[in-house]
Amino acid sequence: MRLAVAGKGGAGKTTISATLARLAARGGRPVVAIDADANPNLSTALGVSAGVAARLGPVPPSLVSRRQGGTGLVEPIEAVLDSYGLIAPDGVRLLGMGAPAHAEEGCLCSAHAVVASLLEDLGEPDRLVVVDMEASPEHLSRGTVRHADVVCLVAEPYYRSLETVRRMAALVAELPVRHVVVAANKVRSPADADAIAEFCDRHGFELAGSVPWSEEVVAADRQRVPVIDWPGAAPVVDAVAKLAAALLPLPAGTPVDIAKARQRLESLSASDILSAPELELDVAGLFDDALGMIDPRAAQILSDRLFADEPTTLDQLGQRHDVTRERIRQIEGKAC
Ligand SMILES: Nc1ncnc2c1ncn2[C@@H]1O[C@H](COP(=O)(O)OP(=O)(O)OP(=O)(O)O)[C@@H](O)[C@H]1O
Ligand SMILES: [Mg+2]
Repeated sequence: MRLAVAGKGGAGKTTISATLARLAARGGRPVVAIDADANPNLSTALGVSAGVAARLGPVPPSLVSRRQGGTGLVEPIEAVLDSYGLIAPDGVRLLGMGAPAHAEEGCLCSAHAVVASLLEDLGEPDRLVVVDMEASPEHLSRGTVRHADVVCLVAEPYYRSLETVRRMAALVAELPVRHVVVAANKVRSPADADAIAEFCDRHGFELAGSVPWSEEVVAADRQRVPVIDWPGAAPVVDAVAKLAAALLPLPAGTPVDIAKARQRLESLSASDILSAPELELDVAGLFDDALGMIDPRAAQILSDRLFADEPTTLDQLGQRHDVTRERIRQIEGKAC
């Protein structure tokens, strides 16, 4: 599976790509990480030492095949991995796109062509390929990631980041990429989470995961330590693990029954689970009708307990209605 990670500058593409790549490698999957940024940072984020990273030569554009109807490489992909790849911690294989060595060197068309060819030839389903893209939408306008199976757009909870995601999603929609998702990053509060969820709802985007803001990530970066190796950043690593679970297909060797059961679950829609009359019910209206039939205080308590965005606790309700928390529990139980 080939996953390209895109988004606005600084959104957390490299942090998420590196953490996801190492988690998948720890899980036993063969992983190739491609640094597709002309300002490369993926080696550091993966935990490759500066000395070793300096040996990461770009895959040369001369290997790109010009055959009709596609790109691809003129050498077998395994040979390319052996010749130009580095082994990062947990066995992740790292490839580089190449960065400008001099001013006024010209455009990076050939470097982009290399990434497109690598992606085309790295299509083996069991292998995870993570492409850490640069902030510019050029990877999309050039079609560099046309062979990606999934594009994950990293969104920070502010307007310009979300606007970038919207623009990039529109470009991806013109590529033959089957699956586009959004991953929230640097989420500091429920309001941040709501802003991204509301944005995804409004545009019909799939929100695949949400990664919290963490000072520990900043501290790890300052020390040049990968997030996955920094114990204080565990909540962020857990959130990336959840994102990975949502994005990655089951690994090879998963029993057929389990794979089939998951396929069935994923293909279910609301209409498969609910009968037609149930689908037509105005559920919110029915709740309102039911609440109107019970004692107003009990109705208020039920609303605060069950339907509030932040459910009110028994203690808070006890204080509000000047009764014990036990009494609130009784009223709630009776009303239900
Ligand atoms: N969840 C987080 N909490 C706090 N800081 C974070 C988080 N994720 C990333 N960062 C920090 O944000 C900065 C940018 O992250 P990163 O380099 O991963 O972004 P990027 O999208 O790859 O940037 P670029 O566009 O330059 O490639 C880094 O200093 C990183 O440590
Ligand atoms: Mg980056």
